[in-house]
Amino acid sequence: MSDTITLPAPADFHVHVRQGAMCELVTPHVAAGGVRTAYVMPNLVPPLTKTEAVLEYKKELERIAPNVEWLMTLYLHPEVTPDEIRKAAKAGVSGVKSYPRGVTTNSSSGIEDYGVYYPVFEAMEEEGMVLNLHGEVPSDDEKNISVLNAEKHFLEHLRKLAADFPNLRIVLEHATTAEAVECVASLGPNVACSITAHHLWLTIDTVAPQPHHFCKPLAKEPRDRKALQGAVRSGNPKFFMGSDSAPHPSASKMPSISEAGELHSCAAGCYTSPYLIPLVATLLESFGALDKLQGFVSDNGRAFYKIPAKAGEEVVIRRPAVAVKVPSKLEGHGNEVVPFWAGRELGWEIVN
Ligand code: DOR
Ligand code: ZN
Repeated sequence: MSDTITLPAPADFHVHVRQGAMCELVTPHVAAGGVRTAYVMPNLVPPLTKTEAVLEYKKELERIAPNVEWLMTLYLHPEVTPDEIRKAAKAGVSGVKSYPRGVTTNSSSGIEDYGVYYPVFEAMEEEGMVLNLHGEVPSDDEKNISVLNAEKHFLEHLRKLAADFPNLRIVLEHATTAEAVECVASLGPNVACSITAHHLWLTIDTVAPQPHHFCKPLAKEPRDRKALQGAVRSGNPKFFMGSDSAPHPSASKMPSISEAGELHSCAAGCYTSPYLIPLVATLLESFGALDKLQGFVSDNGRAFYKIPAKAGEEVVIRRPAVAVKVPSKLEGHGNEVVPFWAGRELGWEIVN
């Protein structure tokens, strides 16, 4: 493989760019990390459940980073009606993200039952909007469901939705298990799957002692990571990059105690945007899949979403002459975020 790679307009099909001061800090990092098109998550406070709110947010992102194509989503919620879907589609909103209630950051407004949303999914199918699924069911002691098996239990919902809506494009987001990879590969062409950079590297052993590695879904066993790496190495176009880059203030990742003397829970999320494409190239090379880099970061996701790469938006990466390390923190606008892989060396850097 040569020491320089030219990638047609890399696209990140799952990114969190937050709001307020954090948004000011992290939004420019998307382009800096080599991404030209970004598919934006709607789990703001309050969640984006109306077309107007989505369009306002898009304007804000375009103001901060006009060099990125921002693809927008609605948050699945009772306010998202079939009429709202038609309105959103007309306004250029690309998809709808579903969070099961309570499973991750800002998901307290998430859904409990897919059945009630069938008319919404029908409208989405007609309008050509994409359904993005956070594929975990809520924990349930009686059923022995926990963060360890929440994704496996979700797959029955995925299979049912895929069968009931064969013309609705559905993405299982941030897959973490061998079973999810197998399930997506077995389903029809309307079902695809995003894979994060961090899940290609982490396993539960490296998450357990390190809050900066805590994200949802949790990274699982070595066999699961092997399956994710295998999905990328296979070149199957159903699998593409969605970073789930999810910045949190560094203090919210650290153990801290509330005024009432209770321990706070650690925020879930790994932050990879600022050096995403070099990181993904480094990881793919580590497991013998560098030849699939273009498919994974550019072609596969764009084909599924029908968002062709624009000429002139190529990103060139090369092996650095001098070692490049991930910074230990990123600061600005009154915020500090610790990135994933802080202090580790990257095998690639962006040229342009
Ligand atoms: O780790 C995660 N962080 N997983 C999610 O699903 C949400 C995200 C966030 O918004 O922080
Ligand atoms: Zn996410």
